[in-house]
Amino acid sequence: MTTPGHAKFTPPQDLGPAPQRKMLVTSALPYANGDIHLGHLVEYIQTDIWVRFQKMRGHEVHYVCADDTHGTPVMLRAESQGISPETLIDRVWQEHTRDFAAFGVAFDHYYSTHSPENQALANQIYLALRNSGFIEKRSIEQMYDPERSMFLPDRFIKGICPRCKAPDQYGDSCEACGATYSPTDLIDARSVVSGAKPIRKISDHYFFKLSDPRCSRFLRQWALLDDRLQVEARNKLKEWLGDSETFADNDQTSNSDSQTTDDMQAKGSKLADWDISRDAPYFGFEIPDAPGKYFYVWLDAPIGYYASFKRYASDIGLDFDAFTKPDSPWEQYHFIGKDILYFHTLFWPAMLHFSGFRAPSNVFAHGFLTVDGQKMSKSRGTFINAKSYIDQGLNPEWLRYYFAAKLNASMEDIDLNLDDFIARVNADLVGKLVNIAARCSGFLIKKFDGCLGKTDRAAMAEFAKSWCGAETLAQHYEHREYGRAMREVMALCDAVNQYIDQNKPWELAKLADQQDRLQVVCSTAIRAFAQLMRMLQPILPATSKLALDRLSAAERQWSSIDFDSDGDLPPGHRMEAFQHLITRIDRKQVDALLEANRSDQQAQQHSEAKKTQWISIDDFASLDLRLGRILEAAPVEGSDKLLKLIIDLGESKPRTIFSGIKASIPPERLVGKLTAVVANLAPRKMKFGISEGMLLSAADETGKVPGMFVLEAEVGAVPGMKIR
Ligand code: MSP
Ligand code: ZN
Repeated sequence: MTTPGHAKFTPPQDLGPAPQRKMLVTSALPYANGDIHLGHLVEYIQTDIWVRFQKMRGHEVHYVCADDTHGTPVMLRAESQGISPETLIDRVWQEHTRDFAAFGVAFDHYYSTHSPENQALANQIYLALRNSGFIEKRSIEQMYDPERSMFLPDRFIKGICPRCKAPDQYGDSCEACGATYSPTDLIDARSVVSGAKPIRKISDHYFFKLSDPRCSRFLRQWALLDDRLQVEARNKLKEWLGDSETFADNDQTSNSDSQTTDDMQAKGSKLADWDISRDAPYFGFEIPDAPGKYFYVWLDAPIGYYASFKRYASDIGLDFDAFTKPDSPWEQYHFIGKDILYFHTLFWPAMLHFSGFRAPSNVFAHGFLTVDGQKMSKSRGTFINAKSYIDQGLNPEWLRYYFAAKLNASMEDIDLNLDDFIARVNADLVGKLVNIAARCSGFLIKKFDGCLGKTDRAAMAEFAKSWCGAETLAQHYEHREYGRAMREVMALCDAVNQYIDQNKPWELAKLADQQDRLQVVCSTAIRAFAQLMRMLQPILPATSKLALDRLSAAERQWSSIDFDSDGDLPPGHRMEAFQHLITRIDRKQVDALLEANRSDQQAQQHSEAKKTQWISIDDFASLDLRLGRILEAAPVEGSDKLLKLIIDLGESKPRTIFSGIKASIPPERLVGKLTAVVANLAPRKMKFGISEGMLLSAADETGKVPGMFVLEAEVGAVPGMKIR
């Protein structure tokens, strides 16, 4: 069982404006079944910015996450790699935490859903729901792979689309025409796992009764009457709850929790019960009192938020119950993508509420990342891995800034337009922000030994007029309007640059009687720069830290952003010279990134496609594969590809076979080898003679490993043996 480590909690130093809030914040738990990509990072960066901001405000924030480890895909992937699921998820945990750290995503604790805490909490919640009558056992019919003896999730069945007849479509929907259907509708359905034809099989499943009127009543109250969700999410909820405009009245007149058909009709509940069990074999937690039945991955995944928090709370001595009990005064927020809204605004609050826990304070959903206006695509190279971004030498804070500049509180998709990304980062971060320091710090270092002079108060007052001010900026952060926040910050940058343009320190530097003025102008700009770096700490944590360290600026809390006083940078304060804070992006780097992801993904797609080209056992049986001893091998005159081979197949007379492996294998290396031959390939007349079979060889499809390789049998095998 994994017991990954975690960062220690450091209490905030300066407890900003009272009252102090306490919050549990989460991002969705990424599947342990794949790499972190730039789409994921929209969410983790969005959350991390919010958490860093709240901590700067002096609030007590606990940001937890974990890998979502259970389910069929992880089980099958581990199997195909010949390792245990535990080994696989441990490796992925290392990769995910490495990627998040590289992008400055600073979880207080990053755990795994495959943990003892999660199992205990999942059991506790399930049993509480069962005791309150929310769990029901029912027989259902499902698709089953008779060869692998396992039930097949829709995604593990492929066949021909019943509507448009496109081949190779998943069991739930067609990627060609968009039709949705059930796997039984597919024409010529096949199990992706074995290639077998799925059969229907009946099995007992456990359901969470979301159709229980207590659920819709509670969810209406939580989501709609208490008015907490984003407007788009709210509309979705109304749709899912089958909202009648009059639900509020209904709610007031009903005062019992009994569940009757009348009740359900009055509420117009459309919520369907939720199948929370899966049959063995499954990688997950076995359900109490139900041998061979496992919790569906989505049952224990959100509980993983609490499990991660519980482990962390016990490590640092925090009161878990104080945060999670029904009347907790503290806040609980979940950042998620719009695709998993249903789980987080219906199942999760209902599970919590009816098992004796609090419900979330809010759920914040964001849209999906597109690249250059289109869905991320493997063939275009825009399905970009976090690791490849780092490996190609791109600065993670470029992306943090760009996402921030594009993000708002809505569920709209956000576009990473690559030209705009380059232009915006170069113009804003390099041309505006870092430029202030570049234009002024040199004079202070060279001429004044790094000492700051007085502040130009009139200039500071001008700056203050150019933007919304620190408190409004804080509200933009609070409301996840990061795009607005960045526009304000850039307006302030513009004002400071204008001041530098007007006062021309490079000219003041040449005039003996203007040295005091030079120090004041540069000091004023540098102090403004320090304020800018403070307010950008949530977005650019590494760059801000570097800059503030160089300035020897001690104050880092939000309350230290102040244009009226010199704060911790009084006259006489010494700063150090800046290194390169942020460099420009070059289009070439972005092109190299696309290229890296294109080739990687093509190789992957290739092997993916291979896996699904099934043949039947009869197809295989029609091949006559035999071991043959290569007696002679010689180049064919007039051909630069072919070797002429004389091969003993244990028959009365050796065969002649022409093989196109000349470029890869020198003939002398082949002689004497006992290797694999297709013995029943119809004889083929070639320019140089008749070829009576085919030599098998292995080669890398992606072209990464050059050459071809012949197979060799173990000692003891003899010519003519059948390979099967
Ligand atoms: N394992 C589930 C979440 C369980 S939470 C109890 C899952 N995992 S995921 O890896 O597919 O996605 C993790 C998060 O990243 C989700 O919130 C998802 O919406 C988000 N994103 C994944 N791809 C994304 C984009 N292309 N764009 C923006 N967000 C994306 O869902
Ligand atoms: Zn179709």
